[in-house]
Amino acid sequence: MKLAILGSGFIARFYADALVGQRRKDEVTIVYSRTLSNAKKFADDYNVPNFTDSIKDCVSHKDVDAVVIALSNDMHLEAVLACAAAGKHPLCTKPLGRTAREALEMLQAVEKAGVTGGYLEDLVYSPKALKSIAAIKSGSIGDVVWAKSRETHPGPHSDWFWDKEKSGGGAIIDLGCHCVELCRSYIGKNIKPVEVICWADTRLHPIDAEDNAVGMVKYENGAIGQFEVSWSFRGGMDLRDEVMGTEGTIWINNFLRTGFEMFTTGKSGTYVAEKAESDSGWLFPVGDEVNELGYNHMFTDMFDAIESNKQPMENFYDGYVVNAILDAAFLSAKTKKWEPVKIEDWRGVAEKKVEKEMTSYDKDYYLIKEETLPSGEKKFIVKNKKTGSIEKR
Ligand SMILES: NC(=O)c1ccc[n+]([C@@H]2O[C@H](COP(=O)([O-])OP(=O)(O)OC[C@H]3O[C@@H](n4cnc5c(N)ncnc54)[C@H](O)[C@@H]3O)[C@@H](O)[C@H]2O)c1
Repeated sequence: MKLAILGSGFIARFYADALVGQRRKDEVTIVYSRTLSNAKKFADDYNVPNFTDSIKDCVSHKDVDAVVIALSNDMHLEAVLACAAAGKHPLCTKPLGRTAREALEMLQAVEKAGVTGGYLEDLVYSPKALKSIAAIKSGSIGDVVWAKSRETHPGPHSDWFWDKEKSGGGAIIDLGCHCVELCRSYIGKNIKPVEVICWADTRLHPIDAEDNAVGMVKYENGAIGQFEVSWSFRGGMDLRDEVMGTEGTIWINNFLRTGFEMFTTGKSGTYVAEKAESDSGWLFPVGDEVNELGYNHMFTDMFDAIESNKQPMENFYDGYVVNAILDAAFLSAKTKKWEPVKIEDWRGVAEKKVEKEMTSYDKDYYLIKEETLPSGEKKFIVKNKKTGSIEKR
């Protein structure tokens, strides 16, 4: 695969580390940046043969099959439309749009142009998330009742993130997009998200957007996907998921305290991990950040999909659904009510909430709970099927 990268900032460098850091057969052939000197520096650092300050020239370059979009949120739509016009496959970073309307325009543009729109939602491709999703699909934890995903850190590294116009929002759009898609992947992407309730507040920064939020997304089968996001968390980047099923539980810690701890007096002052707040004392580095964050598996899936003319696991439709959920979250934070998720073109299963059949204790009683006590006795809490009275045995 011959690739262009649009952007030369923070995520463009992570992507390039994944694309050229190992012996991949794919090549980055051209990079775009607004400033030619930044484009040249990136090209020099990653051995990219061409650089430009024109998006149009970049995407229409003859040695480009797919375009990795690593620009600020306000530039995603323009970049995707340029790719569609040039007949190139856009692979766009998260969030796909600032709103569902923008995301839908991008989805429609790629479908009309007949190119593949890959949604670069890396955290769904982290090795731990991939294994969890496979375990859930094989039935290891039964039906998912409640999934929870948390991304919190001390705030982003560039000015435009803090400008609501350019970013489309604060911690909800920036971090909530990851959490929503993780929960959706655990609950089942075929299950329709129906409504959202969300608390959001601007607690600690002089900005218009929210810097803290918690939300719950209700799915048509009754499952709940909960997101917790913050731009004021101290101590680095906290990426944790919990999935609660009828037959099991999954806990994932992707970043802090993952089993790798290091003490240093801080003499070298080198990079520790994304958003780390300290380079001395006890530190929590990440072994292989590019892989742990999912970038390698993500690009492999994207390129395999394009080559076999299939949709990648994360595609523009997923990006659109995530934006639709986030739109409802923003509205709910204002109205303080459950707000419906408006998806114009639902492509999953229209599954109605199924009442779970209760387990019987005997012909007259349901079993609510069974537990072995410290004394060794077994206790059963039961409910009379006719009268509803709750008793113990
Ligand atoms: N884990 C992830 O998937 C992840 C992590 C960080 C950022 N991101 C996403 O990547 C994108 C870029 O974020 P970043 O952290 O690299 O930010 P950044 O500020 O480091 O880089 C942004 C890039 O966009 C360019 N840019 C900004 N405004 C522009 C304009 N008006 N015209 C042309 N170019 C412009 C900048 O020059 C720079 O090259 C965002 O959409 C962000 O949400 C994704």
